[in-house]
Amino acid sequence: MQVTLKIQRYNPEKDKAPWWGEYKIEAEPTDRLLDALNYVKWHLDGTLTYRRSCAHGICGSDAMQINGANRLACKVLLRNLGQVITVEPLRGYKVIKDLLVDMDAFLARYRSMKPFLITHSPQPEKERLQSPEDRERFDDTTKCILCGCCTSGCPSFWANGEYVGPAAIVNAHRFLFDSRDEGTVERIELLNTVDGVWRCRTIFNCVEACPREINVTRAIGEVKKAILMQKV
Ligand code: SF4
Ligand code: F3S
Ligand code: FES
Repeated sequence: MQVTLKIQRYNPEKDKAPWWGEYKIEAEPTDRLLDALNYVKWHLDGTLTYRRSCAHGICGSDAMQINGANRLACKVLLRNLGQVITVEPLRGYKVIKDLLVDMDAFLARYRSMKPFLITHSPQPEKERLQSPEDRERFDDTTKCILCGCCTSGCPSFWANGEYVGPAAIVNAHRFLFDSRDEGTVERIELLNTVDGVWRCRTIFNCVEACPREINVTRAIGEVKKAILMQKV
């Protein structure tokens, strides 16, 4: 099939404003959008800039707006995108070049949630045990690959960039509901703030955007409830 890629280009060292680059290519319907971007970069214009690594939906690095929706370029097939495909950087993050955005603030917010097991009690002789039911409690939120699609798609984040964002809350949830974790008080303190969970207005864009099909809004709701109950 022949497809036309309309890719938003921007090089801050040369361009006053973003512009659209158009590239017509021959491709297989079963090629992923990432294959098409690679074709453009390797054969038509080597200056095209984007992040990618695993090419298998695991590393989360090739998140971008594809036909207006936040997706991973390695997880969408050309046959599902039509013959003219628009590709833009994720919204809400500073563009470094073309499709490459600055994720530093996003990752800082993730780190601010202390995404690691906190314990205060003495170490057990062997491992800290957990029942399968307790492990199940936070299974959904372990699937996050930090792609940034959810936070980028959230209108509350567009309105106020200080909002910690759904991705950070998902990762706080992963530890808040872990029966082995003893950091509940400090994590709730971080989340129970004006720029924490209460900026979420239950808009659900984050659920639609998540390539890992995490029920982000439900996780945020559980965190809100835990704060209100003051017990997890
Ligand atoms: Fe990406 Fe989903 Fe994690 Fe958000 S919750 S960063 S959309 S994997
Ligand atoms: Fe935003 Fe998702 Fe809440 S889109 S407002 S974080 S439900
Ligand atoms: Fe790793 Fe797409 S390149 S998720």
